[in-house]
Amino acid sequence: MQKPKVTVIGSINMDMVTATSRIPGKGETLIGDGFNMVPGGKGANQAVAAAHLGADVNLIGRVGDDPFGDILREQLIKEGVIVTGVEPVTDESSGVATILLAEQDNRIMVTPGANNHVTPEYVARYRSIIKQSDIVLLQLEIPLQTIEYVTGYCNQEGIPVILNPAPAQLLSDSLLDMVTFVTPNETEALEITQNITGYEDKMIVTLGEAGVRYKLDQKEVIVPGFPVSPVDTTGAGDTFNGALAVALAKREEMEQAIRYANAAAALSVLHFGAQGGMPDAASVENFLLERKQAE
Ligand code: RIB
Repeated sequence: MQKPKVTVIGSINMDMVTATSRIPGKGETLIGDGFNMVPGGKGANQAVAAAHLGADVNLIGRVGDDPFGDILREQLIKEGVIVTGVEPVTDESSGVATILLAEQDNRIMVTPGANNHVTPEYVARYRSIIKQSDIVLLQLEIPLQTIEYVTGYCNQEGIPVILNPAPAQLLSDSLLDMVTFVTPNETEALEITQNITGYEDKMIVTLGEAGVRYKLDQKEVIVPGFPVSPVDTTGAGDTFNGALAVALAKREEMEQAIRYANAAAALSVLHFGAQGGMPDAASVENFLLERKQAE
């Protein structure tokens, strides 16, 4: 069987991760428990997740012309992502995320740097890659005009688009009309539409351990998650999106695709780092089999 072709257009960051026992208050200095620098960025993470699961993955994005840029590009290649569409920006720094890990959760600040240069003009250079995709995956860490450009192009070419609206911002009706699926968490679901209704059929809402909610034939369906004891939840949503894209590109039914993505996300939180625990296809299949036998 031919490998599904997934194109991810999005951010590439270096994650600066500090683990701490609690979040410092305003004006407070705390001594952290440990520091690590690992590759991240929602675009890069989703591309790596999909590549681990056996898809042919192209990432279109940008890095800075700094040492991080080289490391991030090299790492993507090692993870099996095609980086033809990842070019450095002259005199610009790579995207950086400052992450605090505390109380079994994360808090993230992103400084976009080169990610701001993923413009419609830049992406247009790689239209031939996009045109060959079975599915396109987008997030909101690159300029919104680029998201609008890509969704317009994909719409015209009949290519399905998943938009993971993170970090959340209000989205226009015309954009929501053009995307095939939107994958917010509960908070993002409210922020992107400000309670405007009419897009429920496109919404695949992640509910953490409780699973995922979507609508089928006007009825709400909940696909339960797989509770695990997390080591690091950073990148769980990205693994979910990458896995969902692979399953939908293989034309799996929505419920089955979500179950697969839930399993991949559950496995991903068992290791440190956004890309650290992203599973391969065999691990996801074994996990699903074990859970089925235990049911
Ligand atoms: O979703 C997790 C990611 O968000 C991190 O890797 C960080 O870089 C930010 O983009």
